[in-house]
Amino acid sequence: MPVSQNIYDRPDFFAAYDRLRRSTEGLGGAAEWPALRAMLPTLAGARVLDLGCGFGWFAAYAADAGAGTVLALDVSEKMLERARAINARPAVVYERADLESLTLPANAFDLAFSSLALHYIEALPRLLTEVAGALAPAARLVVSMEHPIYTAPRKPGWVQTPDGARAWALDGYFAEGPRQTDWLATGVVKHHRTLTSLLAMVAQAGFTIETFEEYRPSAVQLSERPDLAEELERPMFLLIGARKRPEEE
Ligand SMILES: C[S@@+](CC[C@H](N)C(=O)[O-])C[C@H]1O[C@@H](n2cnc3c(N)ncnc32)[C@H](O)[C@@H]1O
Repeated sequence: MPVSQNIYDRPDFFAAYDRLRRSTEGLGGAAEWPALRAMLPTLAGARVLDLGCGFGWFAAYAADAGAGTVLALDVSEKMLERARAINARPAVVYERADLESLTLPANAFDLAFSSLALHYIEALPRLLTEVAGALAPAARLVVSMEHPIYTAPRKPGWVQTPDGARAWALDGYFAEGPRQTDWLATGVVKHHRTLTSLLAMVAQAGFTIETFEEYRPSAVQLSERPDLAEELERPMFLLIGARKRPEEE
């Protein structure tokens, strides 16, 4: 089984991540949060699983919205330490786990949630199958991850066009596999898959996809945060809402 790079425990990466708006402001600082929140089922009484919980912003949100229990998992000790310090709630258990080799009890959760963690996972089909097995019948999966157009390039970044504009340099789209990028620190490994592969993986794991969105800023967001205008040039985040399919007889 693959083993996680656990880049978030590297001091230089952690220090840079700690300064991001989504780290200092929580869910309100995550541009895609309103779109992701709209995909959530009722949380009251729900048994929630948070995969790659980071600082625990969603785990705390779910607990505050009445979730019965939240099992919030992450491979990074530093992220978990911060989560326990700033987002502790009686309903939330923060636990160290590597999603590359995670095993879960059957029929134990009503919602599996994951925000911006799944593009780090090499054994994603295995994880999705494990998660499907851990969900109750008809329970929901709500996830965000980096969009394949964002993960594909061998050297992700903007280039200047001859007329002086900026363009996203897309290459390598159909070459699935690991990408070493220099996001926040050097040598960060992410796993690129095409949109077709990602959707097929979710379906093959036992889910019916119900909602699907390539995040783009709303007019209100753009008026409040003009820096988000570059998100109209290429999709950065993919959001999926799915439901566990009944077992075939
Ligand atoms: C971009 S952060 C997102 C954190 C949080 N979900 C949020 O949206 O604020 C990605 C998180 O995924 C975690 N992660 C990456 N690979 C992982 C793995 N193999 N197992 C568990 N967690 C992992 C990282 O440690 C980090 O906390």
